[in-house]
This record gives sequence, C-alpha cells and structure tokens, in this order.
Amino acid sequence: MAPLDNQGSVAQARPAELPGGVAGVYPLGSRLNAAGRLEVGGCDTLELAREFGTPVYVYAEDDLRSRARATREAFAERTEHFEVLYASKAFPCTAALRIFAEEGLSCDVASGGELHLALGAGFDPERIYMHGNNKTEAELRLALDSRVGHLVVDSFDEIERLGRLGPGGAQRVLLRVTPGITPDTHRAIQTGQEDSKFGIPLTEAGEAIERCAQAGLDLRGLHAHIGSQVSELDVYGALTDVLRNIGEYPLLNVGGGFGIAYTRHDKPHAVADYAEAMVSRVPEGVKVLCEPGRSLVGNAGVSLYTVGTVKAIPGVRTYVAVDGGMSDNIRPMLYGAVYEADLVERMGDSDPCRVVGMHCETGDVLVPEAALEGPRPGDVLVIPATGAYGHAMASNYNAVPRPPVVFCRDGDARVVVRRETYDDLTARDV
Ligand code: LLP
Repeated sequence: MAPLDNQGSVAQARPAELPGGVAGVYPLGSRLNAAGRLEVGGCDTLELAREFGTPVYVYAEDDLRSRARATREAFAERTEHFEVLYASKAFPCTAALRIFAEEGLSCDVASGGELHLALGAGFDPERIYMHGNNKTEAELRLALDSRVGHLVVDSFDEIERLGRLGPGGAQRVLLRVTPGITPDTHRAIQTGQEDSKFGIPLTEAGEAIERCAQAGLDLRGLHAHIGSQVSELDVYGALTDVLRNIGEYPLLNVGGGFGIAYTRHDKPHAVADYAEAMVSRVPEGVKVLCEPGRSLVGNAGVSLYTVGTVKAIPGVRTYVAVDGGMSDNIRPMLYGAVYEADLVERMGDSDPCRVVGMHCETGDVLVPEAALEGPRPGDVLVIPATGAYGHAMASNYNAVPRPPVVFCRDGDARVVVRRETYDDLTARDV
C-alpha cells in the first residue's frame, strides 16, 4: 500500500498513484490497483460498491488511526500538557469512537445522544467533555449521572441550572466564551464572534466566573471554538491571548476547526502548524485542549454512488445523476462546499459535467463543476473527503434510507453501520 504523509502527499505510490494531484484529498494509502481502479484501505472500490450497494460511505481505518496519532504527536512534540479531544459530531459512529478511544483521544460531545454514543463506545467518562448552548435538564442529568469529566457551561441560565442539579461534590466545568475572533470561513460555521448563540461574551466573563463559584461549580478552565475549516493560524495565537487575559486556569480549550483538503486546489496547513499556533503562547504548566473533528475523519472517508442517468443538454451542460445526493451529503447545499468527483474505474477529467443527486430539488447538486472520464449509467462514482459531516448530517429526505458505513483495512471490508431499510422508515410509526 502506498503511504501518504501527514499532509496527504504521496510518499511512494508507484506504479499506481492517483492522478491529477488528488492524492491529498483521498484517504491515506489510496491508490489505483492493477486493474486501474481506485482502492481505499486496500479494497477495490468497484467491488465494495457491488458487495455493499450504493450509496455507501467507505472509510480507511488506518487513516483514522494515523491522523489521531499525528495529532497527538504534533502536540506531544511541543508540550507535556495537552489533551486531544475528538469532536464526535463530525462522525458520530461507534466504530470510529472506539478507534479514537483506543488511540488515546478524549471526546467532545454536544448532545445527550453523542454522550450516549461515546459512553457506549467505551470512552472513559472522565475523558468526555460535554458541550451545548442549550443542554436540557435531562441531558445535564445524564452527564452528571454518567460522571462526565467536564461540562462546558455556555450561559448564565445553565450555570444556575447546573448548580441546582449538581451533585454533592463540585462538578468540574469549563466556561465557554466568545472571544470576538472571526476566522475566514463560511459564515454558518464561524462561532468566535460576540454576536453568537454560543458562549458568554468577554464583557460578561467576570460575572460568569463569579456565578460559577456561587453555584458551587469547580471552574477548571476556559473554552472557545472560533469556527470550522479555519485556514488562518494566527487566530489561534490571538485566541490564547484573549483567554489568558480572562484569568489563569489549569485548562485552556481552544476548540477545533483545522482545515482539510476537499479538492486538489486546497492546501491545508499541517496539523503541526495548528498545534504550534495553539500551544506557543500558552503559559508553562497550563494544559492545552484542542477538539478537532473534521481533520480526524474528513479525508478518511469517501462516498460511492452509482451513476443512473447521463443527460446531455445540447449547448447547455451534461447532468450526471447518482443514486444519493443531499440526503447523504448536505454540505454543498448548506455551505457551498466544493468537492472532487471521479469514476472509480476511470479517474480522468475529460468531460465537464454536473453531478447531481436523485432528490426532488433543483438544488440537489453534489458537484456543480465536475470533470469525469466518459460517464455512463452503471459507473461507480466516488466523491472523496466526505468523512466529516456526511454521515453525521444525513437525512431521510424523500424517504431515502441512509447509507451504510464500511471500514476498510488491508484489503478487508466490514460494515460498521448497516444500510437503513424501508422497514426502518416506518419503524417509529405508532
Ligand atoms: N468544538 C466545538 C465546540 C464545535 O462546535 C465544533 C464544530 C468542533 C469542536 C469541531 O470543529 P471541526 O474541527 O470539525 O471543524 N457541519 C459543518 C461544521 C459544523 C461544525 C460545528 N462545530 C460542516 O459540515 O462544515
């Protein structure tokens, strides 16, 4: 198998490296096999499509593990005092959570459901951090009863609520603040600005700290998450400065947001650069926590589809329709996210076309400006870099059963989440 380095460039992929500079977008170790077909985790993707059906989310297990290791190592090289949390919202899947627990990560959960998954996957509750701008009393109770290590308090109302529900011993908490930092990313995933539903504004932080004490909470540190798919590094240094100015605490959680490559044109920073930006201005002895989601899972996964129709409109464009769409990847529609697309048997770029889904909406466009190599009905089409927020945000729109998740490693494939069935669609009817 051809290993890729941390930044996704090919180390030694001959004779079958991926064409056209797309290697960094695909899972580590992806290559063309002897038959000229895309292989992920040592598995022929055409065979995967035949065996498991399409659409299907396919992950290279080694990619998940190696990104977890690389992230921990990047911090370990710079400080003894750090903790890497997996932001489980990016891919809330038991099998992935198990892998990250094994790899020594902690876990960020943002709902009772994510907490349930993390506990079920075997995360030590002590290593779980629970977020949420509006946790219900039931969710807070579940967290307290499960002995979750830290709750990240997000509002004055929650401080009061938690004080009221709290057990005899003081619950450890972090206080989430909005640092007034706005990274350059899609508006819907900027979270550091003061005008936000998340966190406490800086001007109120002092008051919130006092209220935590009054409520009997053990305030261990501060938290801020400024946004996702963040392409700048200096914002993290600025963030640590802002947090330090609020007060000295044992823990500083600077959030996630590491950018990844969605297309061959994206050149994300190395994990080491994010780590450097996050730790370099933190005082000695303070533990730095980061909580990446996307960067641990995004490039580990691809989506496979089957082309059903190819409609060439003379003088207009060619539509290539696949058997999934906005129900399995809403990101192009929500954020204008741009993806690559390839045919797994012919990874070329000769024919401009638009890859669309099967849903009853004109906006159901997966890749507006794709280039495929002679697309025809029956071809298996792959969209890489769908490992984060694909499965996580999937829906049953048009009563479409959600795709399975398949993990591949050394040529072996296993289903870790089965495909939904039509019976699943009526399972909740009463
Ligand atoms: N920590 C907190 C408190 C967060 O809210 C998030 C993401 C993360 C960590 C992880 O961020 P990441 O490393 O994955 O960028 N659905 C959107 C992304 C929303 C992210 C929400 N919070 C998307 O598909 O791009």
